[in-house]
This record gives sequence, C-alpha cells and structure tokens, in this order.
Amino acid sequence: MNALASATEFPARRKSTYLNSASVALMYRGCQQAIDAWNQDLAENGTINFNEIAEQTIFDPLHKAFARLLNATPNDIAVASSATEQLSSLAWAIMPPSGSKILTTGIVFPTTIYPFARVARHTGAEIKFIPGENGYTDPQKLLDAIDDTTAVVCLSHVEFGSGQQYDLRQFADACHAHGALLIVDATQSAGAVPIDAPASGADAIISGGYKWLCGPFGASVMYVAPNLQRTLDPGLIGFRSNKDIWKLDVEYQDFPDSAHRFEFSTMAYGCSVGLAESVRYLADIGVENIQAHNLKLADRLLAGLDALGAQVVSPRNNAERTSIVSAKLPNIVSADVVDHLNKANIIISPRRDLFRFSPHLYNSTDDIDHALAELKQFLHTVKH
Ligand SMILES: Cc1ncc(COP(=O)(O)O)c(C=O)c1O
Repeated sequence: MNALASATEFPARRKSTYLNSASVALMYRGCQQAIDAWNQDLAENGTINFNEIAEQTIFDPLHKAFARLLNATPNDIAVASSATEQLSSLAWAIMPPSGSKILTTGIVFPTTIYPFARVARHTGAEIKFIPGENGYTDPQKLLDAIDDTTAVVCLSHVEFGSGQQYDLRQFADACHAHGALLIVDATQSAGAVPIDAPASGADAIISGGYKWLCGPFGASVMYVAPNLQRTLDPGLIGFRSNKDIWKLDVEYQDFPDSAHRFEFSTMAYGCSVGLAESVRYLADIGVENIQAHNLKLADRLLAGLDALGAQVVSPRNNAERTSIVSAKLPNIVSADVVDHLNKANIIISPRRDLFRFSPHLYNSTDDIDHALAELKQFLHTVKH
C-alpha cells in the first residue's frame, strides 16, 4: 500500500523511514512554504504589507481551516502559540473552586493537566488521577468517578504513550449530567482521528500544530463550544483580547463574543498562516481517509510485532485504537531498540519503558516492512 501523501508534499519522506508523528510529524511542504513566504515578506517589507488590517485578520485562514476540520464555525476557534498556552488560559478562565474535583487519567501527558493543577493549587480544588493498568485506563472507571463535585474532566483524546482513544460523546454526556465541563487535549488526535466538535459535546478541544496536523512549532488551535464563548474570562489577556484590537485605550476592555477572546497577543504569526495550509490540506484528503490508511499501517505493524514476540500495550479494538503502537520486547531494553532503529534511519521514539511507532499519511506498508525487518535483525544480533 502506497503512502497517501507524496514526497513532493513531504520531501523529508525521502530522507528516512519516519514513523514518529506522535512526537513531531513531518511538515507539509505547503505549510513550510507559507511560513517562509510570510517571514520573508515581513523581513523585507515590515508593515508595508503586514499593516493593521493584515494583523487584525491574520488568523482568519486558520479559523476557517480548523473549523472545517472539526465541523465547527470560524468563530468557535482561537489561535495561539502552543497547546500549553491555550490550556493555561482556559484553566484560569474556568478556575474550578475549592471543594470541586478535576479528573484525568494516570497516564495523561503532563501538559494536559499541569495548567489545571496550577489553578487547583490556587483555589484548593482537588486533582484526581484515575490509575491505569499496564498503560491502559479503563474508561468506565473514569466515567464512574464523575459526580456532582466534578468541575472538569480533562482528557487527552488519544493518550500519547499508548494511543488509547476515548469516546468523547460518552464523556461529554457524563460530565454534563453532573454540571461538569469536558476539556479535550486533541494534540495526539487532530488530523489523524475524525472529530466532529459540536457532535462530540466537548466544551473545549485544543491541539498543538506540530504533530498529526503536520504543521509547525509555534501555532496551536482551540475550539470553544458556543455556549461558553461569552462567559469565560481568559487567563491570558493582552491588546488582542478586544473586539477592536486597534483601539489601544487602556481603559477599554471588551472581549469578542466568540472563541477569539482567547487570542491575546502577537505571536510568530507566520506559523499560524502555515498551519492553516496544513489543516486545509488534511481536510481536503479527509481525516476519515487518513485514519483508514493509518490503521492499515498499524495492522501490519501489529502483525509483525506479534510475530517477533513483542508485548504490545496499545489497545487493539476499533473503538480505542489508533496508529500509535507501543510495545516492548521481553528481556530487551526499549531504549536499545529505539537506538538501533534510529541508527538504521528508522525514526521512532522511546516512551517510558516502551518503544513507540506512530505512522501517518506519508508512510507506506514498505516503511512498516522495513522497520520490522530491521527489528528482526536487531533481535537476531542481541540473541547471538
Ligand atoms: C497530549 C499532548 N498534549 C500537548 C503536548 C505538547 O503541547 P505543546 O508543546 O503544544 O504545548 C503533547 C506533546 O507531546 C502531547 O502529547
């Protein structure tokens, strides 16, 4: 099976067997070109082209593209520089009070929960981690823990370590039945797993740009559900946090009545222009098609890892699995596996005591076969 994307669209495909999208994905060429062009124009022309109107409307293409990807509207989308930044602004806006609980899993990526933990230290709210077993969190345990004292469930849609995916609608319904909010970190899913934001019921969905969205460092996106857009008081504010960003009157403060109230400052604006190109490109291909492609690659990988006697921790059922496949080999240090494959120009990452593969649309079955053959070779070497 061929890759879904060509080497023209992802030139870096030619350089290595790149199976590391859960860490940093290859960047879509159209994105890189847009960033380069934007930076060059700024360097050569300053505000001649990048004038007040251009700065005011700079996020429009990304609002439009990410809204399309999530079946939302441009007013539901806020742009910033990183997922951490957006989660932090949101956590201070929600500010779960003393006596309330914030729930998450014991295997979540630190960034997903740290901003809420910081706010909880300030207000006296409690953070509760639902423990997993062997890198797996039983979703029912998390659902059962939601009660009337729950203010927020903070969930990574797809877990970074294992690729486990959660059913957002199920969690949104459980949260809303108890007056809690569902905050979703989609950094490991957006661009690879279809998300219909309104249908999911999630109250906010955040994603960094440099993983499955095939964009750059320096730009991230956040969906805010329409019913929250007029009420939240963002934790981070600045001159952009106004309906009229050029009024520049210190006594004026009038948030936009949309998710745009979370946009607060200048940033490496070219990154947002580039990310819009990546997101538009992925939406044109269709995330359903990308997901089907990636899961076929995962199938092949799983079959090969099974044949080599690896212990796979990633879920295998259709509802919970993704193309993140993490495993270990009996009596073998996973870091050595990663080291060997990376030296053979097959790029994967170590995560905790596992080695993690994360193929995406620019990978083919040849890439998977090549990685498995090299892994077999490695096992042969260490056993003899
Ligand atoms: C689930 C998840 N959220 C957030 C991040 C990082 O967020 P950012 O670098 O955009 O702040 C990562 C990075 O690995 C991640 O896996």
